[in-house]
Amino acid sequence: MTNNTPKGNNWPDGFIWGSATAAAQVEGAAAEDGKEDSVWDAFAHTPGNVLNGDTPAIAVDHYHRMPADVALMKELGLDSYRFSTSWARVRPGGRTTNAKGLDFYSRLVDELLEAGILPWLTLYHWDLPQALEEAGGWANRDTAYRFVDYANDVYAALGDRVQHWTTFNEPFCSSLLGYGSGVHAPGRQEPRAAIAAVHHQHLAHGLAVNELRSRGAQHVGITLNLSNSIPRDPADPVDLEAARLFDSLQNRIFLDPILRGAYPADSLRDLEPFGLSEVIRPGDLEIISAPIDFLGVNHYHDDQISGHPDTSGADGHSGGSGRKAPSCWIGAEHISFPSRGLPRTAMDWEVNPDGLRKLLVRLGKEYPSLPPLYITENGAAYDDVVASDGSVPDIERKQFILDHIAAVGQAIDAGADVRGYFVWSLLDNFEWSWGYERRFGIVRVDYETQLRTIKDSGLAYSRLIADSRSRD
Ligand code: NOJ
Repeated sequence: MTNNTPKGNNWPDGFIWGSATAAAQVEGAAAEDGKEDSVWDAFAHTPGNVLNGDTPAIAVDHYHRMPADVALMKELGLDSYRFSTSWARVRPGGRTTNAKGLDFYSRLVDELLEAGILPWLTLYHWDLPQALEEAGGWANRDTAYRFVDYANDVYAALGDRVQHWTTFNEPFCSSLLGYGSGVHAPGRQEPRAAIAAVHHQHLAHGLAVNELRSRGAQHVGITLNLSNSIPRDPADPVDLEAARLFDSLQNRIFLDPILRGAYPADSLRDLEPFGLSEVIRPGDLEIISAPIDFLGVNHYHDDQISGHPDTSGADGHSGGSGRKAPSCWIGAEHISFPSRGLPRTAMDWEVNPDGLRKLLVRLGKEYPSLPPLYITENGAAYDDVVASDGSVPDIERKQFILDHIAAVGQAIDAGADVRGYFVWSLLDNFEWSWGYERRFGIVRVDYETQLRTIKDSGLAYSRLIADSRSRD
């Protein structure tokens, strides 16, 4: 038997191999069975916001093809499927429950359990009901309480069958990109609203953790997108300061309130002009730091940071999953992202698997109360070519995934408590402001016919899962 990674079949007992999607990216059926617009439906309707004028209206039609998609997961041998529920489907106007919307997720969960696949549910993957955005969105503290209503609805319908609950996916994007740079929905460019959104999403997370736990949930966590902030010249104080600032905005303003019960002192200082301390109320941080059972880590690339203008003409950073300049760096607009000359994916993100090992090891060292980790997203976009026999020989994506899994194995060997890995994504899908132009799937979707074809990366991942199970 060939082992695909240095760990071979020696992965920790119970290690979970999965794949992930999100409601707005795959479901389609944007106006069916009572669903109303989310901020992403509304954002995509404004010309210029999404490449080629693409919208999530049809996506990969998962809403109608769900049983066949679950069969595909079973064929791949996945242990778990990470998906999100759509708030705008479950509570369309944000204030009342839509039984038909919940019914879809109930059927999905039954189908997964029937196939022996563990459902890994995320409540918020960026699709706020547009009606709540019109009431102020995440800049409005009330939205945190409306999130708890929604979490309760989903728990009431699925809590008997779903064990793993994630409150938020990448709050960095839905706060700073959505309300700061405006490259994500709702497309606002209001730094103070962006900072309020950060805090209100934290609050919503903490309130929901307490609520779900009081109703019996045993595995509740959050998923953050974390990146190593690497100073271009560690001997240059200007680069060091820029790297500190970047680390604060990308990582620590999310990690610290949840895991330490406080915003970092330097972040509070940096964000004072943008009103952070004004939105924090007494008792908030105690709620926000409610103990969690796992931390989901999404990781795609590192960031090399400089405080000097980048004169290389080869910016190493693409503005996260946004499409325009990364002006989400509130108070840090001067920092630059010089290239390290590494290979890049179709997102223009630098490839460096060892960054994932470093990140996982660092988290364990810096956060003594760190819960078990799961890699809830890792993967790559490349421009796939379909071969004449219909196969998709996506060599680069396959290598990217295998190399990153090997890095996870090395982190475990170095002491990191990582208990699972979810590849992003199961299917090609709606890549936010990039529309359908960027493909992350291990399964190709022909957007004309909705035909699914397992790519070579999917076949390799499937073999790896099978190998890791066959212990000699
Ligand atoms: C992270 C997000 O959670 C996901 O929705 C997105 O498609 C991937 N990154 C790739 O950009």
